[in-house]
Amino acid sequence: MKHARIAGTGSYLPEKVVTNDDLARSMDTSDEWIRERTGIRRRHIAADGETTSSIAVAAARRAIEAAGIEPRAIDLIVVATTTADKIFPSVACQVQRKLGISGCGAFDVQAACSGFIYGLDIADRFVRTGGAENVLVIGAETLSRIVDWNDRSTAVLFGDGAGAVLLEANDRPGIVAAHIHADGEQEELLHVPAGVSSGLAELKAQSAFIQMNGNAVFRKAVATLDSIARETLLGHGVSADELDWFVPHQANLRIINAAAKKLGMPAERVVVTVDEHANTSAASIPLALDIAVRDGRIRRGELLLLEGFGAGFTWGSTLLYY
Ligand code: ACO
Repeated sequence: MKHARIAGTGSYLPEKVVTNDDLARSMDTSDEWIRERTGIRRRHIAADGETTSSIAVAAARRAIEAAGIEPRAIDLIVVATTTADKIFPSVACQVQRKLGISGCGAFDVQAACSGFIYGLDIADRFVRTGGAENVLVIGAETLSRIVDWNDRSTAVLFGDGAGAVLLEANDRPGIVAAHIHADGEQEELLHVPAGVSSGLAELKAQSAFIQMNGNAVFRKAVATLDSIARETLLGHGVSADELDWFVPHQANLRIINAAAKKLGMPAERVVVTVDEHANTSAASIPLALDIAVRDGRIRRGELLLLEGFGAGFTWGSTLLYY
């Protein structure tokens, strides 16, 4: 049986950078508060006209180039996002169109900040069962469009961006294990309380913004990231010492540090980009992965643990050899 192995990574960040000081000019906050509570220093914000599909395709092109394959060789596109350009068609179909490769399967996955982990799990199963040979998995978000810029408790936390991987069927090991979970019982702790089926009036009334109980989400995130790490490592007989890199969802530096400490991972083996990108939801893990691959930290053959946590609640992990 073939393994699903990362052949190339790519990412894209909108040009516009908004610092904490920039935000402090328009709302009652400060660089010091944001850095101390979250570790965030700045975030990228999509320009007018930039959409989730346009930034997704920019990241995808870089992953395809890094993999050294022809776009035509792609036989499945999976996009993880909560901020699609349109209600339909999917961002994945729009990416396919922009790449000019119509014909292959293409669909979106909605699992909030865990979406990329869900997408990797799906892609891995396609590859291992012979359903696809080259799968483009993208995480892309324009969260700035669903942030209430009058709510300092959420506005300072999010950013826009996209990350992508090209997974190929390979004889060498790639993804070793993937686990996904959800618990829909606490929906209201982190949600955007508007949508097509619950009434377009809500959307038109401009209430389609992220709402979050920060403290409760914080506690849930730390506990859940610890349990998913244990499940993955114990389930596959791997100890934290054997991991080369921990690449967690980038929501808050305090959450990342707490998860890394419980896992026993030293800070120098944890990839952190939340300071530069803020929380880019489904894009955060592939963005962090691409940054660390391109700056030379993550090298071929190393063992990585990726972990996601997000609204739903949803969570999951991927253990893989890069
Ligand atoms: N600037 C200044 N003060 C602020 C700000 C701000 N931006 N936001 C809130 N405050 C104030 C509050 O009003 C409160 O003031 P009060 O004491 O006078 O009432 C005070 O700061 C403390 O607020 P808390 O909410 O208790 O602050 P906390 O230390 O919990 O930090 C935070 C808040 C950063 C949101 C934290 O709870 C957190 O990170 N939670 C997890 C959020 C997260 O990661 N969400 C996403 C995960 S899942 C996903 O990615 C979708």
